[in-house]
Amino acid sequence: MQQAIEIGRFITFEGGEGAGKSTQVGILADRLSRSGRPVFVTREPGGSPAAEEIRQVLLSGQAAQFGPLAESVLFAVARGDHIDNAIRGALQQGQWVICDRFIDSTRAYQGATAGVPRGLINALEKITVGALLPDVTFVLDIPVEEGLARVAARAEGQELDRFESQELMTHERIRRGFLDIAEEEPSRCAVVDASQPEAMVAEDVWETVLQRLNP
Ligand code: TYD
Repeated sequence: MQQAIEIGRFITFEGGEGAGKSTQVGILADRLSRSGRPVFVTREPGGSPAAEEIRQVLLSGQAAQFGPLAESVLFAVARGDHIDNAIRGALQQGQWVICDRFIDSTRAYQGATAGVPRGLINALEKITVGALLPDVTFVLDIPVEEGLARVAARAEGQELDRFESQELMTHERIRRGFLDIAEEEPSRCAVVDASQPEAMVAEDVWETVLQRLNP
């Protein structure tokens, strides 16, 4: 008898600048691996060769001249390729996919903050993502000044990218955007206080994974 292949789980991390997403993605990936789960770690924009090329165009600011609507379309094109050439296959093989940023970044940065109409963002999501919504989305929440101070410390004289270098008010809107999404979709999203020490953030994340996904 053929054994049914178990479909993997899809976990995303979201949040403003300096919330510590990459660190938490790494910690969760280690924990899941140690508990015997095959893990595939990826990120957006990017995650597939073609999407990584679009990432360069977006983060360098080259696409900014066309406005946030065009940027939304580019994020969506990159996302579609990432899903078709990486995420869907990994899930079908039973891997646990952990993605650093996904649809909610487009909703918060381009939608809630840069003013791209929700209807357009929804339409792009429908085409690129369809029913492939994350099982759990962690919104790592941190006061804007704290997050930006971490980014500045990390950058040490390097130039900030197109999105990091926006004004304080803009970062406040992005933060609010993520919190609103979490309020609208509590069964998918979990807000975690990212101003706590790293290990405590990781504990909160793990608790939620245990409760919701039973790894
Ligand atoms: P990245 O270098 O991956 O930084 P971070 O550590 O903050 O995730 O930069 C990705 C940037 O792109 C980040 O500033 C948020 C922005 N972004 C959007 O504006 N919309 C999107 O849909 C995505 C995925 C990212």
